[in-house]
Amino acid sequence: MSKITAAITAVGKYLPEYVLSNEILETLVETNDEWITSRTGIKERRILKGKGKGTSFMAINAAKDLIEKTNLDPTEIELVVVATATPDMQAASTAAFVASQIGATEAFSFDMDAACSSFLFGMSVVSSFIESGKYKKVLLIGADKNSSMIDYSNRATCIIFGDGAGAVLFEPSSDGLGIQDEYLRTNGEGREFLQVQKGGSANPFEKGEVFGGPECYVHQEGRTVFKNAVFNMADVSGKILERNNLKIDDVAWLAAHQANKRIIDATAERMGLDESKVLMNIHRYGNTTSATLPLLLADYESQLKKGDNIIFAAFGGGFSWGAIYLKWAYNA
Ligand code: COA
Repeated sequence: MSKITAAITAVGKYLPEYVLSNEILETLVETNDEWITSRTGIKERRILKGKGKGTSFMAINAAKDLIEKTNLDPTEIELVVVATATPDMQAASTAAFVASQIGATEAFSFDMDAACSSFLFGMSVVSSFIESGKYKKVLLIGADKNSSMIDYSNRATCIIFGDGAGAVLFEPSSDGLGIQDEYLRTNGEGREFLQVQKGGSANPFEKGEVFGGPECYVHQEGRTVFKNAVFNMADVSGKILERNNLKIDDVAWLAAHQANKRIIDATAERMGLDESKVLMNIHRYGNTTSATLPLLLADYESQLKKGDNIIFAAFGGGFSWGAIYLKWAYNA
C-alpha cells in the first residue's frame, strides 16, 4: 500500500473591513509612510472592530469561506485546529466554539500556540493525524486579532501588526502530494525579546489592578528579533532544500511568514530564489501572526499548480521557527 501523505485540498480567508493605513498611523504616532514602507514593506493592515468580536469571529468566517467555495459538508470534518496567539478567552477553547459555529458537529477541536509559528507548527500537527490513517478531513485555521494586544501609542509595534484569518483543509493523498518534510525548532531564550508580560499565569492581573501599562501590550526588541528571524528562516529553508536534494529551480514558491519584507527578501536571497517566486501580501495586511501563511495560499490560490514544490518558512516569539516542504495538490 502506498504511503499516506497530508495534502492541502482547499483554502479560505477572512479579513476585517477596517483598513488602518500608514497615513492614519501618521496621525496616531510619530512615524511616516516612507519610514514604515522602507523598513517593513507594509502599507496597510486590517483591524477587527466591534465589541465582543474576537479571533473566533474571523476564524469562523475564514472556515465558512472555505466550506462555501468547496461545497464541503461540515459534518464530515473530523478535527478543527485553531492556530492562534490571541484566543477569544483564557479558559474556553476558541476551536471548540469555532467548530460548533461552522457546523462541524462531528469533530473534536483544540487551539495551539507557537506565536508567529503557530500555523507552520499546526501544519506539522494536523498532517500527523492524516498520516496516521485515522482522519480524512482536518481543518487548520490560522487566526489572530493582534489589535487586542497592541498599544496604538507605541510606534515600535503598532505599525507592524494586523488582524486576519485563513483556513486550509487537509486530506490524505495516495499520490505523494502534500507535506514531504519539516524542520522545526524553538529556543526559549528568545522570550524576553518578544512578549506580552502581563495577563498570563506567570503575571496575572491582581484584583483591582488597572489595565494599561506597557507590560499589558506586545513588547518587541525589533533589532534582535530581526537578526534572529533572518538567520534562522534562511538556515532552515536551506536545510530543507539540502535534505530533500532540491535545487533552487525545483522550488515553485516560497511562502514565508509575513513579518517584514526585508526578512522575506533576505531569506529568498540566501536561498538564491528569484523574487517572482516569493508569495507576498505583507503590504496589504502587515503581520497577522498565525494567519500569514494561509492568507498567502488564499491570495495566490489561482496561480498555484498541482505538483508545485512550496517551501513554507516562519519565525516567531518564543523563539520558534521552521520550514516545511509541501507539494501542492490541486489546480484551482
Ligand atoms: N517610525 C519612525 N521611526 C521609528 C519607528 C517608526 N514607526 N519605529 C522606530 N523608529 C526609529 C527608532 O526610534 C530609531 O531611532 P534612533 O535611531 O533615533 O534611535 C530608528 O527608527 C531605528 O530603529 P530600529 O528599531 O533599529 O529600526 P529597525 O530598522 O530595526 O526597524 C522594525 C524596526 C521593528 C521594523 C524591525 O526591527 C523589525 O521588523 N524587526 C523584526 C520584527 C518581526 O519580525 N517581528 C515579528 C516576529 S514574528
